[in-house]
Amino acid sequence: MQTPMAAQSRTVPLFAHFFPALLALGYPWYLASLHDSAADHHALQALKALALTLAVPASAFASLYALGRRSTSDARKVALQWLNHLTFASPPLFVILGVFLYLMKINGADAKVWVGLWLIVLCGTLLVLISRAAGASIALPQPRTAPIRVMHGAASLAILLVFLLIHLGNHALGVLGADTHREVMLKLRHIYRAGWIEPPLIALFFFQIVSGIILVASKLGTKRDLLGVLQTASGAYLVVFIASHLNAVFVLARYFGTDTDYAWATDLPAGGLLAGAWDVRLIPHYGLGVWLVLAHIACGLRTVMLAHHVPQPRANAICWIAIALGTLWSAVIIVGMLGVRG
Ligand code: HEM
Repeated sequence: MQTPMAAQSRTVPLFAHFFPALLALGYPWYLASLHDSAADHHALQALKALALTLAVPASAFASLYALGRRSTSDARKVALQWLNHLTFASPPLFVILGVFLYLMKINGADAKVWVGLWLIVLCGTLLVLISRAAGASIALPQPRTAPIRVMHGAASLAILLVFLLIHLGNHALGVLGADTHREVMLKLRHIYRAGWIEPPLIALFFFQIVSGIILVASKLGTKRDLLGVLQTASGAYLVVFIASHLNAVFVLARYFGTDTDYAWATDLPAGGLLAGAWDVRLIPHYGLGVWLVLAHIACGLRTVMLAHHVPQPRANAICWIAIALGTLWSAVIIVGMLGVRG
């Protein structure tokens, strides 16, 4: 009798789900090529390097989608889903790795450490796959995630209203120049840096990281559609992005007395994100970070609508419209960060 995973392997062979992580091994070199070709004004070469850079999370997403379409709770499938969620989060992973190494005063070793860590992860995943028989189904626990989902949603709403909307709105003003951004930021700091707002806000972000990991884990092995996969993939990205971003803002910068303004975030006046060999990694990190946080919220909204019996086609349509608007918003932010001025 053919096992479910064996049936799947007819369409997408098992080893194909390793491809995104193997592609991720070269991530530092795609970024270096992006930086070098931009410096040499080789537009085509730069586009190729950017495409390779984005191919890492894109191929991981394709893999997650293929795995999510299957309803089997195969142990191998779950291991590959962990691997591909991690791969999808490559942009913030490479940033947090770079910041840690910088803080430890280990210079010029980012690519080597990156490859070493990925080889460990690949080896671990391979061993899990070897140790589990093909098609061995795992008894999926039936976690009571409903209360966690409600708390996660309520925390998102609080974060959005108190901070995220104004934070991302402020970044969109970057296209008008660093001075405009700074002027507005100084006013907004009265809100989110207020002594009674900032600590609970940061605590809420930590809560989102922990509850987010639990919610992603609870979805592995289950069958999901495209927006469902986008929800967990973006959630995994945000877990790493938020940890990396808070570490950069509070440890790398503020602790050492650096003002965390737009110039700091975009490496001005040194030349901008494309000009810095280190900073180029911030382009996919921030670009996808904003897009995915907005997409994640749109997917969360869809879940709430479905729970309130909104017909699925309508809930999906509203979700896609919100994602389209989020795409525009994040595009404005990233072009501003790359130096385009309106
Ligand atoms: C293009 C994308 C982003 C850029 C360039 C950026 C940049 C910054 C900067 C410059 C600060 C310091 C603000 C200040 O000193 O007043 C900051 C703080 C912060 N950012 Fe972002 N950010 C981005 C996206 C995000 C996203 C998507 C999130 C959440 C998912 C986020 C969460 C935070 C948090 C929690 C703080 C700390 C706020 C505080 O001072 O209490 N950021 N960010």
